[in-house]
Amino acid sequence: MRLLKTVEGLGCWRRQVSGTVGLVPTMGALHEGHLSLMARARKANDLVVVSIFVNPLQFGPNEDLARYPRPLAADAAQCRAAGVDVVFAPEVTSLYGQSLTGQFFNVVPPSAMTRRLCGQSRPGHFEGVATVVTKLLNLVRPHRAYFGQKDAQQLAIIRRLVRDLNLPGQIVGCPTVRSQSGLALSSRNQYLSPSELQQAAILYQALSAAQALFKAGVRSHQPLIQTVIETLKTAPALKSEYIELVHPDTLEPLHTVETIGMLAIAAHLGAARLIDNILLRTRQPIIAIDGPAGAGKSTVARRIAHQLGLLYLDTGAMYRALTWFVLSKAAEPTDEIAVAELLPQCEIKLTSQGGDHADPQPPEVWVNGESVTQAIRTAEVTAQVSAVAAQGAVRQALVQQQKQYGVQGGIVADGRDIGTHVFPHAELKIFLTASVQERARRRQRDLALQAQLVPELSELEAAIAERDRKDSTREISPLRKAEGAVEIVTDDLSAEAVIDEICSLFQQISKG
Ligand code: PAJ
Repeated sequence: MRLLKTVEGLGCWRRQVSGTVGLVPTMGALHEGHLSLMARARKANDLVVVSIFVNPLQFGPNEDLARYPRPLAADAAQCRAAGVDVVFAPEVTSLYGQSLTGQFFNVVPPSAMTRRLCGQSRPGHFEGVATVVTKLLNLVRPHRAYFGQKDAQQLAIIRRLVRDLNLPGQIVGCPTVRSQSGLALSSRNQYLSPSELQQAAILYQALSAAQALFKAGVRSHQPLIQTVIETLKTAPALKSEYIELVHPDTLEPLHTVETIGMLAIAAHLGAARLIDNILLRTRQPIIAIDGPAGAGKSTVARRIAHQLGLLYLDTGAMYRALTWFVLSKAAEPTDEIAVAELLPQCEIKLTSQGGDHADPQPPEVWVNGESVTQAIRTAEVTAQVSAVAAQGAVRQALVQQQKQYGVQGGIVADGRDIGTHVFPHAELKIFLTASVQERARRRQRDLALQAQLVPELSELEAAIAERDRKDSTREISPLRKAEGAVEIVTDDLSAEAVIDEICSLFQQISKG
């Protein structure tokens, strides 16, 4: 691991390395919350950079800039143990030069996102955050940057910042890590005495009480917020600053939660200002099925969707639909730039078609309102679809469209990055796999059924093993088992047995 203290050193390192880079921006005093971000970054990237910088720009005049903890040596040791490649811990002058003493460029988020929640009591704070994060993204040029849901307003603003200013890197939101008492971990918890630490747990208890009410069907803001207020009353030392129900992306206040809402609190306790939030979702469940090629994912996914009354999100059909669109515009499918130019014009929709139990119909596919269900099955589309699907811009655009289906939920999706990347919050994640030998045998049977030339088993096995290797090592959405996924090895199982097992897992989850 390298500890870099200057913009020059970081720039030099960045120019030397290749492969994917994950960035975890922090202000140090690292705890398990930060470590969870590093672990996520470590898994998905070749290289991990952690920045440690107590950014003066995001502290108000009466805030804790001077006493903010700065245990750099201990932090660096934690980063080393977490497998981090570079810790970037610049001095203020290295990052800002002399600019903080005079006038300088500031990144100003939309006022609708800063006038509520923490923005009310911390004027200028999110400008400071947006400015330093812009600098870090430009310096590190990461493929992915990791932020915690704990600072939900910050996360929403950074997502918007990257989108609006076309900054490099995909923003990955990570769940809040809590202590046993439920208290969200924070570097500022160090300001609390042991008894205050105990009392601080009331914040999460209050949010949980509202969540219980929400689960019982309460959707409007008044009773949800009232429950939080009532619970907080049991800890009189805690002075709440705000309790708000907002949309987690736009941060606009909500009267009623339609699909998703965020209940957020800030409160003062002793010398600390604490924040916390929870997401309230009404969406339907999502089943995400990943696994290597030839494990039978799409057959299983289609039939499970039918059995459970969910939509089969046929991601393969989406790539076919785009390929059809590219061909219909007479563009060259291997010309990545021409394809990228067409992406914003291609709106793909899937709708359920029914069919019978054993052989449900694939979903109906629409491009810009025109049904293309048949048209996407032609030999011409089949011949070009993998060339189109392999393009980075294509995957990014289609993943975005797939995520839109996740807002309402009620879907079964399969692929090779569905549980890891597209729907990491799916209720049920499955990793469906089979041995290379078994997949080779199945392929032989399929080819024979289609009256095609049937290669030797050993030849098929070698080809499948090679494809697995390529799929698991490629840069964009490699084949990986998602965290918390249930692995099902289908070697000795019929399709029915696999479907039954997944449906019963789903029913267990729905009950509990
Ligand atoms: P800091 O408070 O050090 O947090 C760094 C990152 O860790 C943030 O993305 C934050 O949301 C995340 N984090 C903190 N506590 C967490 C917890 N309990 N669970 C999960 N994630 C947690 O946030 C900042 O620094 C700064 O504003 C920064 C983005 C670095 C810009 O200066």
